[in-house]
Amino acid sequence: MRTSGERCSSKSWITSTQVKNNKLETLEEANTIAVMALDPNKIRADFPILDQEVNGYPLVYLDNGASSQKPKAVIDTISKYYEHEHSNIHRGVHTLSGKATEKYELVRGKVRKLINAAHEHEIIFTRGTTESINLLASSLGRSAISEGDEIIVSELEHHSNIVPWQLLCEKSGAKLKVIPVDDNGNLELGAYDELLNDKTRIVSVAHVSNTLGTVLPLKEIVEKAHDQGALVVIDGAQAVPHMSVDVQDLNCDFYCFSSHKMFGPTGVGVLYGKEDLLNELPPYHGGGNMISRVTFEKTEYNELPHKFEAGTPNIAGGMGLGAAIDYIEALGYENIEAYERDLLSYALQKLKGIEGLRLIGEPEEQACVISFLLGEHHPSDVGAILDRQGIAVRTGHHCTQPLMDRYGIAGTVRASFSFYNTKEEVDILVAGIEKARSMLG
Ligand code: ALA
Repeated sequence: MRTSGERCSSKSWITSTQVKNNKLETLEEANTIAVMALDPNKIRADFPILDQEVNGYPLVYLDNGASSQKPKAVIDTISKYYEHEHSNIHRGVHTLSGKATEKYELVRGKVRKLINAAHEHEIIFTRGTTESINLLASSLGRSAISEGDEIIVSELEHHSNIVPWQLLCEKSGAKLKVIPVDDNGNLELGAYDELLNDKTRIVSVAHVSNTLGTVLPLKEIVEKAHDQGALVVIDGAQAVPHMSVDVQDLNCDFYCFSSHKMFGPTGVGVLYGKEDLLNELPPYHGGGNMISRVTFEKTEYNELPHKFEAGTPNIAGGMGLGAAIDYIEALGYENIEAYERDLLSYALQKLKGIEGLRLIGEPEEQACVISFLLGEHHPSDVGAILDRQGIAVRTGHHCTQPLMDRYGIAGTVRASFSFYNTKEEVDILVAGIEKARSMLG
């Protein structure tokens, strides 16, 4: 399984099966072929970090929800940038600065295309999803929220989509309302209907739950919020690595995500916002680049997207994000989605066969993220035994303490998969859990 050595040339992971079978007769056949279209063994050769032993065992990396690994193309792009191309952007008249600026701005175009935003200037670069949401909470807080207003989040949110809104509520006197989650990890949409009213100003929810994998019914959520005149913010950190996102089709007002969960570097992320809304919002950080004219009496701000990009950005990170987008697009979301659907259903079926294993959440629509408990054993004990076998999972509350409270548990073991994971690795996970069960008694 663990292949090393030769790196793939462009698109070599797409097998000829895909090409040979242009005439597909059934949906099932189409899906099978899409599953086969990705060859994970060839893909794995693009990710150098996967080819190593941990604690004497081949690494099985199942912590993609926390951060995904990086293909060689991303790593090389960053090295090349620092070796040959680095200069500050948007500032210099010299050639190197002009080239770096041009290349960095090309990435903005790639992000626009990836999520089908209408305009490049609707793409704001941030440090990550957390900063994108904090930017919104700060700017909306200073322009659109006052005492008595209501902000709705859901019970499955990551802390980064709870705490910024709580801070805003404390400051403004607005109220935070919470859409409950049912036993299976789905949102209770009837309760959402009851929470919405003419005081609702913002609805901020995840696209995909980082803990349960639930895929939220965003179109319905957005439409209902808009009927009440509320703005909709989406935390897409866990969605973009797994599925194609179309912000115009979703009709959300803002969409946030991080590069490091989608095979790019850490420290760079995206805030998408509709042009009119971004134009109305006051800036977040003050500093260089976000201004058009500064005097001690008054400062005029730069136009979008620069109004929200104060200071020197993570230029190398941006270049790496561009390479990650190229990589995803070469694989194709259709192929990624089909492959991961197949992997998820295999993993669920295998895990359900383990005595004493309890899945936490079995949502109607699920991305490739699975949370579970093993008997009464503490998740970190299970995680530690898995780690000794080279299997990396996350254990604990996953930055979703209110969701853990909902289920009356302290934490879970979470296996979060990517397109470079294989069924063989699922089997290794299952054997590892069986071993943990016998060791823990
Ligand atoms: N949000 C990341 C996770 O779910 C850190 O693990």
